[in-house]
Amino acid sequence: MEKIAFFDTKPYDKIYFDKLNKEFEIEYFESRLRPESVRLAEGCKAVCAFVNDDIGEKSINKLADMGVKVLAMRCAGYNNVSLKAAQGRITVVRVPAYSPYAVAEHAIGMILMLNRKLHKAYIRTRDFNFSLNGLIGFDLHGKTAGVIGTGKIGRAFIDICRGFGMKVIANDPYPAENSGIDYVSREEIFRQSDIISLHCPLTSDTKYIINEQALSMMKPETIIVNTSRGKLIDSEALLDALNEKRIGGAALDVYEEETDLFFEDNSDRIVTDEVLSLLVSRPNVLITSHQAFLTNEALQSIAEITLKNLHDFFAGNPLEYEIKYKGDEHHA
Ligand code: NAI
Repeated sequence: MEKIAFFDTKPYDKIYFDKLNKEFEIEYFESRLRPESVRLAEGCKAVCAFVNDDIGEKSINKLADMGVKVLAMRCAGYNNVSLKAAQGRITVVRVPAYSPYAVAEHAIGMILMLNRKLHKAYIRTRDFNFSLNGLIGFDLHGKTAGVIGTGKIGRAFIDICRGFGMKVIANDPYPAENSGIDYVSREEIFRQSDIISLHCPLTSDTKYIINEQALSMMKPETIIVNTSRGKLIDSEALLDALNEKRIGGAALDVYEEETDLFFEDNSDRIVTDEVLSLLVSRPNVLITSHQAFLTNEALQSIAEITLKNLHDFFAGNPLEYEIKYKGDEHHA
């Protein structure tokens, strides 16, 4: 039985992997995969890792030296993997889509919460404070949603926006054919949108796509939503724009410095990230900790596809979801 070293394990990961796995011996480790923890994979030919594991050149070299043959990412994004270092030594597979609806619906949930101030209302009514002061939102109907990245998640998001009666504009270097989507320049997205939602991967072209210049073009009511990757937004520039009331708010499921914080309970720690501390304290900022994927359907699909990727690798079958180095490390 092939052994899989499964890093960064959380209780919710185990549910579907344990239920669906018939073929492998899975060794679960709570530790993140990083150069210092690579040795846990001793004796395993397969490693399963997640979004905040450090799978740069150092980790890859160590894994390859230990005889690891396949790295199965149980996520869509792979900007944390050095494909260049893995090239020709370790096969990398991923789960390109598990539930685009999970992420798109979370983005919508955050928009509704932030716009209609449900986060405040929830806390108020628990304290029998039934005042409505300060809770004014705006109708989504008739407003413009600007979507950056119209892949699987972006299009699921667009479908929901259309259901709300919103006007949708989008930007993507590879427009979706026959989608009826109105593609415009990035600048037009920034200038026209009431909601801007990011659904593109993190690459050298998209790093800090929301920067000072982009923020300066936005309307004062605009809400920015990021369920993709933290580094798409220059957080300091975002904080400045929020402080100066140049934008309406931000809904963030990801944060550029999330690696050592998100997915963990830090309530007993002094968190010294000043930008995050200030963002958390703003009433018009909503932060969730990389939670957008977390539905039963997505977790089941992640386990199914990851186990199938590994089965195909060891059976010598063609690999549907292999990712290869193409010259952009995504380590923007
Ligand atoms: P996808 O590959 O189906 O779509 C990505 C789209 O972005 C493609 O249409 C691509 O052409 C476009 N794109 C690439 N470069 C661009 C650029 N410079 N400007 C505008 N668009 C660009 O990926 P999918 O499944 O829709 O996922 C999108 C992102 O969502 C992932 O890359 C990942 O980072 C993130 N994600 C976040 C999750 C969470 O739990 N918060 C869960 C799953 C994915």
